[in-house]
Amino acid sequence: MTAVTARTYGTEDVLAVEEIPVPNPGDGEVLIQVAASSLNALDWHFVTGTPYFLRLMAGLVRPKRSVPGADVAGTVVAVGSSVNDIAVGDRVFGETDGGGCGQYAATKASTLALLPDGVTFEAAAATPVAGLTALQALRTHADVRPGDSVLINGAAGGVGTFAVQIAKALGATVTAVCSGRNVEMVGALGADRVIDYTTEDLAAGGDRYDVMMDNVGNRTTAECRRVLAPSARYVIVSGPKENRWLGPVPLIVRRALAFRRTDHSFHQFTASPNRADLELLAAMLADGRIVPQIDRVVGLDGVAAGLAEIGSAHARAKIVVRPA
Ligand SMILES: NC(=O)c1ccc[n+]([C@@H]2O[C@H](COP(=O)([O-])OP(=O)(O)OC[C@H]3O[C@@H](n4cnc5c(N)ncnc54)[C@H](OP(=O)(O)O)[C@@H]3O)[C@@H](O)[C@H]2O)c1
Repeated sequence: MTAVTARTYGTEDVLAVEEIPVPNPGDGEVLIQVAASSLNALDWHFVTGTPYFLRLMAGLVRPKRSVPGADVAGTVVAVGSSVNDIAVGDRVFGETDGGGCGQYAATKASTLALLPDGVTFEAAAATPVAGLTALQALRTHADVRPGDSVLINGAAGGVGTFAVQIAKALGATVTAVCSGRNVEMVGALGADRVIDYTTEDLAAGGDRYDVMMDNVGNRTTAECRRVLAPSARYVIVSGPKENRWLGPVPLIVRRALAFRRTDHSFHQFTASPNRADLELLAAMLADGRIVPQIDRVVGLDGVAAGLAEIGSAHARAKIVVRPA
């Protein structure tokens, strides 16, 4: 099969398109003929091997995940032993340990869900990592309720574009922060107010929110607290990545300690793939509560440039990959 591979750690230059064997599904796995995948910051971390502590799991010297693509959507063509809830011919989508940027991917059945009729493979492939992250941040950790006011810092990327729509679906009033070129797109997703951070300071207007979902981590703890209403929830999804050994971990630890002295709750998490949440996202895709924002669709030869764009921290919405 044809796939994108990364045989060593590096930047986009280490990515190649080559012929490799079709993987075999192991116990609890299925083999998917991949119709579409999409790119995430997660893939860039595995390609670059940064922050370096990630290499303890991802491979000390070279990446164990040689084919990028954590998101996958396609048709099941074989099932491994002990898989009895997904069958050959099923249309599925979900999260894999890499492999989406190839024509076939072997992946755990437990992190896949069936795709409802009418949902395209491209829309489904855009959803798993970013949609799960937005859903778990807002529903599980921030416990967003109807009527809550939610501030989303970093609303124009993969996670942010899902977050705006999911916060609206949960009944919140949404204020979204992005750069000027993305204001129109984010407004069209249903945000009640959009702040262009290049011309307006989110912390300057005196507004207070019940929830701040922080996909960027570029503001000080004092600035974050200034925009939080009494007893509000602060959920940090990401932070600056300039620390090559630990990434955003030092900032997150400092911030967690600072929040302990306040009446605001602090939430940090790593999104986890599970079938129940994928099924909820599938239902939201089917009834139109979420519509994935797809910046462009590329072939395998467009993966390197797409991942480099994500590495620049200014990708817009989702880049979908079609391997065939
Ligand atoms: N905790 C978890 O489990 C988890 C899961 C998934 C992702 N993440 C992390 O969450 C972050 C967001 O992921 P993603 O998939 O949305 O990334 P992405 O698609 O690459 O989007 C990044 C977005 O950040 C925006 N941005 C950059 N600087 C900004 C600033 N100063 N103020 C506001 N927005 C700014 C950019 O919009 P503009 O071009 O408009 O500035 C861009 O659209 C990444 O760092 C990723 O590693 C964490």
